[in-house]
Amino acid sequence: MSDDNRQWFVAQASTSQGIRLERACFGQRIGARPEPGPGEILIRNYYFACDPMNHAWVKGLEARFEPIPVGGVMRGGVAGRVVASHHPDFAIGDAVTGFLDWADYTTSNGSDYTGTPLQRVPRDLPLASGLATLGMTGHCAYFGLFDIGRPKPGDTVCVSGAAGAIGTVALQLARLSGCRTIGIAGGEAKCRYLQEALGADATIDYKAESVSDRLTDLCPQGMDVFFDNVGGPILDAALARLARGARVVICGGIAGYNSEATGLQNHLMLAIQGASMAGFFYFDHVHRLGEANARLASWLRSGAVQEVLDVAQGFDAVPEAALGQFSGKNLGKQLVRIAEDS
Ligand SMILES: NC(=O)c1ccc[n+]([C@@H]2O[C@H](COP(=O)([O-])OP(=O)(O)OC[C@H]3O[C@@H](n4cnc5c(N)ncnc54)[C@H](OP(=O)(O)O)[C@@H]3O)[C@@H](O)[C@H]2O)c1
Repeated sequence: MSDDNRQWFVAQASTSQGIRLERACFGQRIGARPEPGPGEILIRNYYFACDPMNHAWVKGLEARFEPIPVGGVMRGGVAGRVVASHHPDFAIGDAVTGFLDWADYTTSNGSDYTGTPLQRVPRDLPLASGLATLGMTGHCAYFGLFDIGRPKPGDTVCVSGAAGAIGTVALQLARLSGCRTIGIAGGEAKCRYLQEALGADATIDYKAESVSDRLTDLCPQGMDVFFDNVGGPILDAALARLARGARVVICGGIAGYNSEATGLQNHLMLAIQGASMAGFFYFDHVHRLGEANARLASWLRSGAVQEVLDVAQGFDAVPEAALGQFSGKNLGKQLVRIAEDS
């Protein structure tokens, strides 16, 4: 085991208006491998998960967690294996995930930075699944769609950011629920993938088509569920096409993370259609991860849900991967594999 411990740290304060960090905020350094104290484990990390939340954590815009100061180690979703244990519940070789240091090695007392217990990746599934279908990504799709969207067979469910991490899972869960699915994504290749590989009934390329016109064509009776990862003009266009009693799930609003927020013009359609719009925050649902993981893992094993991974290779790939999500470079869950899992 090497004594070196490469780390990504906050090299300088961000000056951007939104949450997105600049490239210069990402610094790399080598520190000493940490030693696990009493009751702690040492984890060798293999994958980092890129989430828009990584940026919000550094800047402290995510209300519930302290910002990471300049010089502090960046953190985010991490999957690794226990290589030393002074903790009765963890053995060497256990596969674990959590929100931990973006470093080769990290210690834990059994929980992550958010206080959430480390999650275990089932032995028969790839380590990367613990950050994708069985990570925050799959969980957001699961809680958002089923708790708020409440899809019924025959419903029309539209998903924005449909070719991203959460979108690819939400779309498939809607299809599994017997719904007609419409995915909104940027570019012809992503839209083709959603239809050919993930079984979307229809897609809208928001970069080349009018979302409003296409929704009018595709949803003459309106949509029953809108699962929104994007916000802004796409959310507004969807509000204009709600069916009676529709449910709008606010998962995220990436279109506004780096630009001026735009006001909604069509929010009164919620009143006219007797529809509801509600958001959710992942960390309010972590007490139900067991339930979500049991169902998501069984769909993954049976092939009912396909895992869509976009894996950048090597420790150095972190900044490009983490920044690329804002311009749609990723298809599915953006991970960085920092070492080979032996
Ligand atoms: N509620 C929660 O607790 C929670 C937890 C985690 C994440 N989230 C939010 O959920 C959303 C999806 O997260 P994710 O992990 O699936 O992210 P992701 O994989 O990075 O997907 C984001 C996708 O959004 C699209 N996009 C980027 N800018 C856009 C714009 N201006 N207009 C339209 N589409 C745009 C891009 O695809 P295209 O090529 O299609 O543009 C990009 O690939 C994010 O807003 C995130 O902040 C919420």
